[in-house]
Amino acid sequence: MRKPIIFGNWKMNKTNAQALEFVNGVDGFVTDKADFGVAPAYVALKDAKANAKDLIIAAQNVHFEANGAYTGEISVEMLKELGTEWVVLGHSERRQYFNETDADVQKKAAASIAAGITPIVCVGETLFEFEADKTERVVRKQVAGCLSGLDAEAVANLVIAYEPVWAIGTGKSATVEIAQNTCALVRDEVRNLFGDDIASRVRVQYGGSVNPSNIEEYMSQADVDGALIGGASLEVDSFKAIIDAIK
Ligand code: PGA
Repeated sequence: MRKPIIFGNWKMNKTNAQALEFVNGVDGFVTDKADFGVAPAYVALKDAKANAKDLIIAAQNVHFEANGAYTGEISVEMLKELGTEWVVLGHSERRQYFNETDADVQKKAAASIAAGITPIVCVGETLFEFEADKTERVVRKQVAGCLSGLDAEAVANLVIAYEPVWAIGTGKSATVEIAQNTCALVRDEVRNLFGDDIASRVRVQYGGSVNPSNIEEYMSQADVDGALIGGASLEVDSFKAIIDAIK
């Protein structure tokens, strides 16, 4: 009943011209088996959006304030004007390198939702936390911290990406059991916060070294509704293989 959702997170890769080349190479291959999208750098959003018919185009971040003295930041209104309808928030690289907190993510999500932009909210434990058996505590806290206070109906429509930090860009993907169990506890935390109906509708992705050969296994899990993909989303052929894998 939940439509699968597959997103490529390009991080700081691809110029505008390279993004355009990718969009033109992939858009015609997008099927209706899932929602498929990519998140280019800000500078490529406008042209990517203008050239994508079926591929969803997302930003990788946004600031929570409407405007003001925040050098280097981008507001929801700026994204909206480019036609951007989705935004990735709280990616672990933003949390690690730019000190983003759950409270920041919550404010960014609220600002995005108010502007009609759908967030993909990222959560996930570090290797240290994983090895200390703290995954459940950490992930539940992140989900609660990022989503509490948001409109329930908006939560049902957004996406949560569970990405264990130790699996990102490492080639060391989580087992399907870990992916399923943690996506299930993400949903359970949404149930605690917003009730059964919202929890049954919110889409939860797994992310971390997903590629064309392992995506089917993840997608076969009951609580895994999709994937957030870094490295394997960068090449046209690899992304097409991912599209083909979603039957
Ligand atoms: P990866 O990145 O697929 O390269 O591990 C995932 C992500 O950071 O979203």
